[in-house]
Amino acid sequence: MPEAILDAIQPSSSQSGNTSSVLGKPTPRIDGPLKTTGTAQYAVDYHFHGMTYAWPVSSTIGSGKIVSIDSAQAQKMPGVLLVLHHGNIASLYRVGPGSFSGRAGESRPLFADDVVRYYGQYVAMVVAETLEQAQAAAATIQVQYQADKPNVSTELNDPQTPELPLHTESKRGDVEAGFASAPVQIDATYVTPTVTHNPMEMHGTVAVWDGARFTLYESSQGVVNHLNVMAEMLGVPRENIQVICRFMGSGFGGKLFPWPHSLMAAIASRELVRPVKIYVPRDLMFTAVGHRPETQQRIRIGAQHDGKLVSIHQDYRNQTSLGDDFRENCGEATPLLYSTPNLLVTSALVRRNIGAPTPMRGPGAVPGLFALESAMDELAIKLGMDPVELRIKNDTLTDESNGKPFSSRHYKECLQVGAEHFGWAKRTPAVGSMKQGDLVLGWGVAGASWGAFRGGAQTVVSLLDDGSVRASCATQDVGTGTYTIFAQVLNDKTGIPLNRIQVILGDSSLIPGPTSGGSVVTATVIPAIADGAEKAMQTMLELAANTPGSPFQGKPVSSLAFTDGMVHIKTQPASSGQSFQSLLRLANVEAVHGEGQSAPLYALPQARNVSTHSFGVHFAEVTWDAGIARLRVSRIVSVIDAGRILNPKAGANQILGAAVMGVGMAMLEQTIYEPNTAHPINNNFADYLVSTAADCPKIDVHFLDYPDLAMGEYGARGIGEIGLAGVAPAIANAVYHATGVRVRKLPITIEDLLQA
Ligand code: MOS
Repeated sequence: MPEAILDAIQPSSSQSGNTSSVLGKPTPRIDGPLKTTGTAQYAVDYHFHGMTYAWPVSSTIGSGKIVSIDSAQAQKMPGVLLVLHHGNIASLYRVGPGSFSGRAGESRPLFADDVVRYYGQYVAMVVAETLEQAQAAAATIQVQYQADKPNVSTELNDPQTPELPLHTESKRGDVEAGFASAPVQIDATYVTPTVTHNPMEMHGTVAVWDGARFTLYESSQGVVNHLNVMAEMLGVPRENIQVICRFMGSGFGGKLFPWPHSLMAAIASRELVRPVKIYVPRDLMFTAVGHRPETQQRIRIGAQHDGKLVSIHQDYRNQTSLGDDFRENCGEATPLLYSTPNLLVTSALVRRNIGAPTPMRGPGAVPGLFALESAMDELAIKLGMDPVELRIKNDTLTDESNGKPFSSRHYKECLQVGAEHFGWAKRTPAVGSMKQGDLVLGWGVAGASWGAFRGGAQTVVSLLDDGSVRASCATQDVGTGTYTIFAQVLNDKTGIPLNRIQVILGDSSLIPGPTSGGSVVTATVIPAIADGAEKAMQTMLELAANTPGSPFQGKPVSSLAFTDGMVHIKTQPASSGQSFQSLLRLANVEAVHGEGQSAPLYALPQARNVSTHSFGVHFAEVTWDAGIARLRVSRIVSVIDAGRILNPKAGANQILGAAVMGVGMAMLEQTIYEPNTAHPINNNFADYLVSTAADCPKIDVHFLDYPDLAMGEYGARGIGEIGLAGVAPAIANAVYHATGVRVRKLPITIEDLLQA
């Protein structure tokens, strides 16, 4: 650990000496009133004169060719303006190589050819004056197919599958020799099913072509990436597209990259020179906008009798589509969570007739930790060792995948604090040995890890003559509290209260900002907000010193300070000074600005020789009623080590939501493809089960709140993804403790437990 560098960086709460800082306080969302009053506008809420509506026709086969498309009847129906399909669409482009070009959810352009690669693939679209007219006309379009048998086999070692190249992701020591030498061995295969993002707000686009430029209202986790992709695929200059996403009903990774419906709206708008609205109905949310693919993971762990690990070998497969190589990075956490001299993580992709997979909350780490943390529980049982103790025994402060020390790792403390809050000391290890009335209790534990990232960002911070401060950046708030965190940092720096702070996000025409993915935005953007605020305040002091009639005229700028929204002589209290807005008005200047910059993690000297990750532990309690085969998750205690927590309210909200999602992952969620048609047959909320309020256990969230100064002065790491990692294995481990049934394939169903 480069101590000297870290010591030089002060953990920041109120560096400026402002008296009313809300940084680190449980601050309610500044956008809350807009959402609760229905004032916040989501993508398809935008409405414009002359609006038209697009509706897709999607494939009813899972593999084959389109022989013909008969749209004669649709063309004659009332209100119909346009029917497009592969036979008549103007060509769209693929995204070219290079980071500037962006990443599309599905690399094949819309309607590119007559080949059907998955059920639900868009094959045609109708645009009409009303939504109902478009839907009615779309229903009359006759598509003839030459259908082949699709492959949606969930057996990923299927002998029919051509052998795909094995990819080595992490390697140290000799895993075969280590495993062979280990006196205690675990060798088991774990399966996680395809799961589908189901944000409250479905995907949607309103496209407005004005004859020269596109404005696209989107539900997007990355307005800048969306702009880049659309410019490439439509073949128009970047400056002729603006992408707007002010509010989102979440995305969970499903809205990181643009999907074909956005192209549908854009091309139709260009063709008709009218605004076009489209939304993706819930059933097509299961095919055309990504999902987390099925994974099959073989885990082999070798250990000494005392529990010390000798080897970890993880070999996994994940499904991907025919057109896109998506790797569900199941080895995200494996190489670094525990100390072991021998380790190997390998993977291969298996093609299926499914839509393109895409990242979903904690991509890779979440299914990967289901396997690893289930296997660790199996090992603890085989060793006759407490599973908390086994994890502590194999804790490490070095990232053994690269030899670097962790910047800030408190995994052991997560285990200890969680055990304390959960009451783990009262656990009796024998299966079924704990009772609560007629119910059997099961207690399980699992660990979590997620990389901590920071990219580069820019912001503009402006002090305005109405007494407000404004920060802007082309990143977006996906519903997690980004607006609020940024406002807290502005408040901390300037001392201006939250009700006079504006945060402007979700517009690609602003100074560029990051995609909201990988839990990077907070750590990436807040240093740029702080920098912008400092520069704006500095410019304000210069203005105060140079404005005729100002009480500070002619004073050295270095003798002035900006505190609690006041310009004052540094050695005198803020209250003796002048408000910045009065000085702006005196100078007849509407605003002074600061352009904030933040550097990516790799460019920070203090981060160069450390490994940055967040950690966490979940303890789960299940109740098992053997008489009626009823399983419930009754309690979850989560302890999260994610650096400094800037807003404990928004932060806890992320972890609570993730725990609820984890209950769904453990016990409810799976997308089922019908084998003959590749139709995801449970593509609706009646059949695809997500956790509801009735499924929610009591959830107790604790943050360790150690600033990680390698991340910068604020010491904050992301907290979006880590919450889901580890929840499902904690529940599966608790289920074993209650029932003696080891479920290695999610979700855990009643049928699995009937053998108990
Ligand atoms: Mo997250 S899966 O990067 O939205």
